[in-house]
Amino acid sequence: MNTSSGIGLSTMKPCRRILVSCKNSSLFGFPFLNSNYLIPDNLSKLQPNLNDLPDSCNRVVGFTRTNTPNWRAFCLSGSDSGQSRFFSGCPVNTSNDRRVSNIANVASDVRNHSTSIESRVNQNSFEKIYVRGDLHVKPLLIETIEEAHKVLENVEKDKDYEARVEVNDSLGVNRDNLNQRSDGSMVFRSTLKREVSEVEKEAWKLLRGAVVNYCGLPVGTVAAADPADKLPLNYDQVFIRDFVPSALAFLLNGEGEIVKNFLLHTLQLQSWEKTVDCHSPGQGLMPASFKVKAVPLEGRNGEFEDVLDPDFGESAIGRVAPVDSGLWWIILLRAYGKITGDYSLQERVDVQTGIRWILNLCLTDGFDMFPTLLVTDGSCMIDRRMGIHGHPLEIQSLFYSALRCSREMLTVNDSTKKLVAAINNRLSALSFHIREHYWVDMKKINEIYRYKTEEYSTEAINKFNIYPEQIPSWLVDWIPENGGYFIGNLQPAHMDFRFFTLGNLWAIISSLGTPTQNEGVVSLIEDKWDDLVSGMPLKICYPALEYEEWRVITGSDPKNTPWSYHNAGSWPTLLWQFTLACMKMGKPELASRALASAEKRLLVDQWPEYYDTRRGRFIGKQSRLYQTWTIAGYLTSKMLLENPEMASMLFWNEDYEILENCVCGLNKNGRRTKCARVASRSPSSMSEPLPPQIKETHC
Ligand code: GLC
Repeated sequence: MNTSSGIGLSTMKPCRRILVSCKNSSLFGFPFLNSNYLIPDNLSKLQPNLNDLPDSCNRVVGFTRTNTPNWRAFCLSGSDSGQSRFFSGCPVNTSNDRRVSNIANVASDVRNHSTSIESRVNQNSFEKIYVRGDLHVKPLLIETIEEAHKVLENVEKDKDYEARVEVNDSLGVNRDNLNQRSDGSMVFRSTLKREVSEVEKEAWKLLRGAVVNYCGLPVGTVAAADPADKLPLNYDQVFIRDFVPSALAFLLNGEGEIVKNFLLHTLQLQSWEKTVDCHSPGQGLMPASFKVKAVPLEGRNGEFEDVLDPDFGESAIGRVAPVDSGLWWIILLRAYGKITGDYSLQERVDVQTGIRWILNLCLTDGFDMFPTLLVTDGSCMIDRRMGIHGHPLEIQSLFYSALRCSREMLTVNDSTKKLVAAINNRLSALSFHIREHYWVDMKKINEIYRYKTEEYSTEAINKFNIYPEQIPSWLVDWIPENGGYFIGNLQPAHMDFRFFTLGNLWAIISSLGTPTQNEGVVSLIEDKWDDLVSGMPLKICYPALEYEEWRVITGSDPKNTPWSYHNAGSWPTLLWQFTLACMKMGKPELASRALASAEKRLLVDQWPEYYDTRRGRFIGKQSRLYQTWTIAGYLTSKMLLENPEMASMLFWNEDYEILENCVCGLNKNGRRTKCARVASRSPSSMSEPLPPQIKETHC
C-alpha cells in the first residue's frame, strides 16, 4: 500500500494527490521573489539528513518547512508511478486576510538540483530530460551559492527598476519611455503622464479587478469577471493564453511582478503528474488554465490553504489538449525579459529546464513527414471542434515564434547544443514548408485550379494531391488581385482555405512569412476590411462553416453556429496582435482605425468575449461579459501604438541565418524559383550532427 506523509491528501480526484504548501515569507521586502528563490542563509538549512528518513520512505519528494525554518522531508513509498499529483499551496485562514500561518516549499531534491536534471542522447530522441528517482516535481530553486549571490544582485536591480517606475494609482496607468541600463538592456522609466480616457480608466479598473492572488501574491487574471454570471464554468480560471495580453498590459505599464509570478507558478505546474483516463501526456505540457482554490487544512479547524489546481485538458470541455500553452509561455517569457530588462529570470536553471521540456515535447520524433506540429482539433484559442486538427496554421505560427524565442533565450552549453541545432533546423524547415505550401494568392489559386492529380514521384507539382474541385466557391471571388494569405491547414488531399486571423498575424509578427507575403497579408486585410475587421475587430476566421459543413465539421455545435464564437465570430482580443502586426509592417494607422471602431463599443457593451454575425454587429449569443483578454487586448493595443520602441521588441524581422539553412529562393511573388537547402547550411548550425528527427531533405 502506498503511504504518504506530508501536509495532506486531497480526495478530489481518484488518483492520490499530495498537497504541498508554498513558502510565502517576505524576503527583502520584495514579494515576488518569495515563492521562488531561496536566500543563501537558508541554503544550509535545505540539507536535511536523508538518513533520518523512515525506512518506509523510499522516495523523497520534497521538503516542508514550518514557521521556524526547519526543513522536513516528506515522502511517498510504493510503486505509484504516474499516479501522484502535487498541489502547490500555502495555508490561509478563513478570513479574506490570507496571511500565511505556515510556510512550506514545493522544492524537491534540493541537494542535487544541478545534477538531478540530466540530458541523454539516444537513438530516438535527441535529448530527454529526466529527473532522478522518477521524481516529477521540478525544483524552483537556485542552484549554487554563486547563483544565490546573483539572486541578491538581481533583487537590487529589480528594486532599482521598481523605484524608477512611477505608478499613477489614480489613473492606474503609467506613461513610460525607455531608458538604457549600463549593460545596454532597455528598461522602462515613467516620466510623462497623459490624461487617460474614461474607457481606459474603466479598463484598468476592471483588469486590476480580474487579478488572482495565490498566497497573497498576484499570479494571473481570471478569464472573465462578470459579477452577474452565475455559471462561470471555467471562466473563473487563469488561462495561459488569456493571460498574455494582461501580462503585456502590465509589463507595458511597468508592472513586472505579476508576470514573473505567473511564469514561475505555471512552471511549477508544468512538472505536475497529469493523467487523463489513466494515460499521462508527455512531460513538459503546460496547463490550459489553473485555478486558485482554498482547501481546508486537515486537522486545522477553520484554516484553509491556497492551492493551485491546473487543468491540462482533463476537465476542459471536449478534453482538448492545450498545445498552445507552452508556446505562449515561452513567448511571454521572452517578452518579460525584453520589456523589463530582467534577463535573470530566463537564465535561471529551472526556467531553462522548463523551456527545454516544452521544446522536447514539440521536437520529439513521431510519424510525421512534415516540419509542422501535428495536433488534435481544438488545441489552441479555438478550443472546440472546428476542423482544425492536423497542422493548423495558428499552432505553426506560435510554434515558429516560440522556437525563435527559445533560440534567443537558451543558454548554449554541451547539454543544449543539440537542442539548439534542432531548433535551427526546424525553424528553416518550418518556414520553407509554410512559405511554400500554405501561401495562397491569385496566382497560386489559379495554379491549383489547373492542378493535375494522382502524380506519383518526388518531382510532383501537386505534392499533396489536391483536387481542384476543393477550391471553395467563396474563394473564387474573394481572393484579391493583390496580396494573399496563409491557409488554415494542409493535409493530404486537403487544403483548408479558410482565413484564420491569429495564425496569419503571428506569421507576420514572427517573420514566418517572407517580407512580401507578410505585406500581402496586411494588404488582404485592408482589402477585405468589411469581412475581417468591420463592425468589431477581428474575425477569428473567415468565412463561417454553414449548413452540412457546419453539421459534419463542428458536430452540430450550437455554440459554433455560423458567424458565431469560433465559427467566424469577431474577437476583440485579436486587436493587440493585429496592432503588433500592423506596426511591424509600418501601417500603424490600420491598427488605430480598428482600435477606434472597437473603442466605441467595448465599454458600452461591457467588454464582450466575442461578437456574432457577418459584420460583428451583435454581442455573441453565449458571450461572456467583462472578458479579461478583451479588456487587456484593448489596453495593450493602445500602449503598443504609443510605444513603437516597445512594440519593436515584440516582433522579429527576417532572419537570414534561418534562410541559409534552407535557401528556397522566393521571387517577388513569393513563388519558388530554386532550392538549395542542404548545400548552403551555415557553419554555425552545422557544428554538430543533426538530431535523428531532422532529416536532410532536399526540396
Ligand atoms: C474560450 C476560448 C478560449 C479561451 C477561453 C477562456 O474557450 O475559446 O480560447 O481561452 O474561452 O477565455
